[in-house]
Amino acid sequence: MKTQKCLVIYYSQTGATQQVAQEFAQLLHADTLRIEVEQPYDGTYQETIERCQKEMANNEVPTLKTRDIDLTKYDTVFLGYPIWFGTYALPITSLVKNIDFAGKKIVPFCTFGSGGLSASMNDLKKALPQAEILPGYGVRNARITKAPAEVKRFLIENGYLEGKVEQLSAYSAQQPVTPEEAAIFNAACGDYQYPLGTPVTVGKRTTSQGTDYCFTAQSKDVKGNDVKTTIYVTVSNDPNIKPEFTEVVR
Ligand SMILES: Cc1cc2nc3c(=O)[nH]c(=O)nc-3n(C[C@H](O)[C@H](O)[C@H](O)COP(=O)(O)O)c2cc1C
Repeated sequence: MKTQKCLVIYYSQTGATQQVAQEFAQLLHADTLRIEVEQPYDGTYQETIERCQKEMANNEVPTLKTRDIDLTKYDTVFLGYPIWFGTYALPITSLVKNIDFAGKKIVPFCTFGSGGLSASMNDLKKALPQAEILPGYGVRNARITKAPAEVKRFLIENGYLEGKVEQLSAYSAQQPVTPEEAAIFNAACGDYQYPLGTPVTVGKRTTSQGTDYCFTAQSKDVKGNDVKTTIYVTVSNDPNIKPEFTEVVR
């Protein structure tokens, strides 16, 4: 196993990331630390958005309540956060500014409305050049009930836990989307609160549970420019389970 002594540190505003943190901590028998801020983000969703926008415009970060964090006895830190504005939440910006992560291995994990793991990992690499940012795990909050099985799989796949997992094949090459595949995309993504664009091409893989789809979709960014996004959808073999939108990578 890769991990000798690990710590799960996380910030969670509404509890989703906390649930995932608890899964990691339980499976790893790890110590846990919940990050809190002096002035909690305890308003409505809209109030939190507005407060963050103001803070970001002023280059401000929230003051942490948890400041004395001693990482000396840990070699690996599992770092959890919600995605805010496409990357890790502002309290994590404060954390990475204030705590010395040099020489640590960091395994990021996050929850999100639609996506943001890879962008937040890139931002962590920039913010913590002296730490090693390892592959991470992310889950849409709408799929949080799937997290326990996925976290276990992630830990085994990455060598933190012993066990066997199904080896998943690579996605097939991208091909133009058929009307049936467009219907799957719409069934999975149609009720998401923001438009996810039009699927143009798709790659697939078959698993013991069903079929996974990797769509490339065409959409517009906030400035009206054409952008391509990658949208993952999974369809279960169980016909009672509706197609699930699992993540968008922008
Ligand atoms: C201020 C704010 C900004 C957010 N920005 C994004 C975003 O850019 N992308 C996204 O997928 N979800 C976004 N979300 C949704 C959260 O990532 C999601 O609800 C998350 O699961 C919350 O985790 P928590 O319950 O641990 O706080 C945002 C939520 C808030 C409050």
